[in-house]
Amino acid sequence: TWTMGNVIEEQVAAIRELVGDKRAICGLSGGVDSAVAAALVQKAIGSQLTCVYVDHGLMRKGETEQVEKDFVAATGVQLKVVDAEERFLTALKGVTDPEEKRKIIGREFIRVFEQAQAEIVADEGPAVEFLVQGTLYPDVVESGGGTGTANIKSHHNVGGLPEDLEFKLIEPLRQLFKDEVRMIGQELGLPEEIVHRQPFPGPGLGIRIVGEVTKERLDLLREADAIAREELTAAGLDRDIWQCPVVLLADVRSVGVQGDGRTYGHPIVLRPVSSEDAMTADWSRLPYDVLARISTRITNEVPEVNRVVLDVTSKPPGTIEWE
Ligand code: XMP
Repeated sequence: TWTMGNVIEEQVAAIRELVGDKRAICGLSGGVDSAVAAALVQKAIGSQLTCVYVDHGLMRKGETEQVEKDFVAATGVQLKVVDAEERFLTALKGVTDPEEKRKIIGREFIRVFEQAQAEIVADEGPAVEFLVQGTLYPDVVESGGGTGTANIKSHHNVGGLPEDLEFKLIEPLRQLFKDEVRMIGQELGLPEEIVHRQPFPGPGLGIRIVGEVTKERLDLLREADAIAREELTAAGLDRDIWQCPVVLLADVRSVGVQGDGRTYGHPIVLRPVSSEDAMTADWSRLPYDVLARISTRITNEVPEVNRVVLDVTSKPPGTIEWE
C-alpha cells in the first residue's frame, strides 16, 4: 500500500542513489514545500546538502528571521542566507507585467543560487551538482508539464527557468498534493508551524503589487499583510482558510477622508480563500467583525491606504493570486 512512510523510504533511497557522493543545494522559501523537500533530502544525504535562503526583499514581515530560526532549529541543516534585495528590486524596476515579473524573479533566483553554489563549491568537498526544489503536482500540471493542461501562469519553480541552468533538478514532491506534503513533513518531525504553514508564492509580494514593485510599496504591503495575518490568527481562523493573499493596487487610487483631510490613496485587497489543493478555490466567508477589524486597523495604521476591499471570486475564474 501507498503510505507516506513508503514515499519517504522510496524517495530517500532514490535520492541517495542519484546524488552518490556529490552535493546538493536547496533553496528555502520559508514555505512548507521547500522545507519538506529539504528535510527529505537531508534525511537522504545529510551534510551533503546545503540550504540557501535568498532574501529577495519580497518576503512578508518577520519571515526571513523565522526561516533562520525555526527551520534550522528543527532540522540542524546547514543554511546560507543571501541578502539579494537590491539585486531583485533593480531587476524589477519599471516592470508591471505579471509574467515578466515572474520570469525576472525566477531568473534572478537561479542566478543567485549559482552564485551561492560557486561559493559553496569554493569550499573543500565534492561537486555541487544538484538543485532541490519543492515542486508539487499541481505546479507541474498548471505549468503544462503534467497532463498537457494549458500553461496558466509560469510558476517560478517550474517555468521561467533560464536556458543556462547549471544544476540537475531533484523534485521529490513532484507527484504529491499539499496535504500529502504536510503528512510527510509531520512524519519527518518538522514542527507544526512549518507543517501547517499556509502557502506563499515563490515570487512573494512581487506578484501581490499590481503595478511596479518598489521598496516603499513593499514596506506598505508588508504592514497591511502583517495586520491581516495577525487578526486572522487572533480570530483562530488560520486552519479554516487555505491562504489569504493581501494585494496592493498600486496603480489604483481613490478618494477618501482620513482625519480632517481629503486623501487620495491606494486600495488593499483581501483575498481569503478555501481550497483543497489550490487547483480550485472558493472565497472564504470570513466573519464580518474580523473583516471590519482588519479594515479599520489597515486604514488606521497604514496611512497610504484609504480603502480595503474583499475579493469574492472563486477559482476559476479568478486565480488565487492576482498576478
Ligand atoms: P494561483 O494564483 O495560480 O495560485 O491560483 C495557486 C497556488 O500557487 C501559489 N503560487 C505559487 N507558488 N511559485 C510558488 O511556489 C509561484 O510562482 C506561485 N504562483 C502562485 C499560490 O499562492 C496558490 O497557493
